Amino acid sequence: MASHAKTLQSSYPWTTSPLITSAPMRLIAGEALTLSVSRSHGLGFLAIGTDLASLALLKTITTSLHENPIPNTPPGILPIGVGFICFGIDLAAAVSTISSAPQKPAAAWLFAPREENDLIAWSSGIRDASAGKTAIWIQIGTVASALQVARTCRPDVLVIQGSDAGGHGLAHSSSLISLLPECADALSKAGFGHIPLIAAGGIADGRGVASASMLGAAGICMGTRFLCSPEAAISDGYRGAVLRAGDGGVSTARTKLYDRLRGTTGWPEQYDGRAVLNHSFWDHEKGVAEEENRRLYGESVKLGDEGWGEKARMTTYAGTGVGLINKIMPAGEIVKEVSRDAKTLLKRGASHL
Ligand SMILES: Cc1cc2nc3c(=O)[nH]c(=O)nc-3n(C[C@H](O)[C@H](O)[C@H](O)COP(=O)(O)O)c2cc1C
Repeated sequence: MASHAKTLQSSYPWTTSPLITSAPMRLIAGEALTLSVSRSHGLGFLAIGTDLASLALLKTITTSLHENPIPNTPPGILPIGVGFICFGIDLAAAVSTISSAPQKPAAAWLFAPREENDLIAWSSGIRDASAGKTAIWIQIGTVASALQVARTCRPDVLVIQGSDAGGHGLAHSSSLISLLPECADALSKAGFGHIPLIAAGGIADGRGVASASMLGAAGICMGTRFLCSPEAAISDGYRGAVLRAGDGGVSTARTKLYDRLRGTTGWPEQYDGRAVLNHSFWDHEKGVAEEENRRLYGESVKLGDEGWGEKARMTTYAGTGVGLINKIMPAGEIVKEVSRDAKTLLKRGASHL
């Protein structure tokens, strides 16, 4: 573990340990969130998602970092990561953008390939395009995937996504409390114990970070917590719905319904998404026909901020950690707060037992 922390610190020397990262949330994690997190000693991931046009943001970010650099950034490196949803985006275009970038993103986050073996081409394509400067991070959700990906792609980092995570993930997986140590043990046994693990799913404060460290993670990723930062590119209605939700095991659920209502198609069969339950969900449960439910969803889109919340219909992707989030805070302050609290808890740790 200590050596994993060292590996991450030498790869990302502007960061502190345990490493705090922000998730590459499609359409949400843009320049503002990414840079705020990296400027506060974390690693911010820019969401490219399935949208090649977002790759243009790399240029904007490069300019911004040129004007206001982050201390301790290695030469030729952009102190940010980029996240791809592999099933929905063209590898060749991603590779060509990275190879033509004068500075290479410090990490590429790969998620949701159509077939797991597609990650082999993604990993080698990005490694070659960046001359090895862009580290390969792969987000997985089962022990079998962790082992398979470790063997076939030799990732620099594995992100272990538990079932509490907000947004898309595997419909069948377990929460971090058992998934993370089981992955750590299995990887270690198979000779891949050198790969640092990042915990994702349900972590929203310093207690979660400290617990993830105890379970074997060298760092963590948060998505839901950062939704309640002004830098997340979402509406006030969305942010408010996350803030109001609590008791995440009952106020959120994993479902494919919201993808169908929104027309977000193409996700491989094994994925669904965790979101706050609302009228779309309740109507579905009551047996309202999907066509009518989709029409009602369309009506709620016209309501703006009023269309969000459990009594409304707009989809609020968020994880079970919603109840731990009680205020809107700048992303950089979130990184500092959870990092400080985790360190205090980890120092105190043993004396509590
Ligand atoms: C609103 C939202 C959108 C997300 N979009 C993406 C995405 O585009 N790509 C991705 O790899 N993960 C995405 N995720 C999942 C995150 O990578 C991560 O696993 C998750 O946020 C961790 O759990 P948490 O939300 O409880 O912090 C998203 C999560 C949320 C909450």
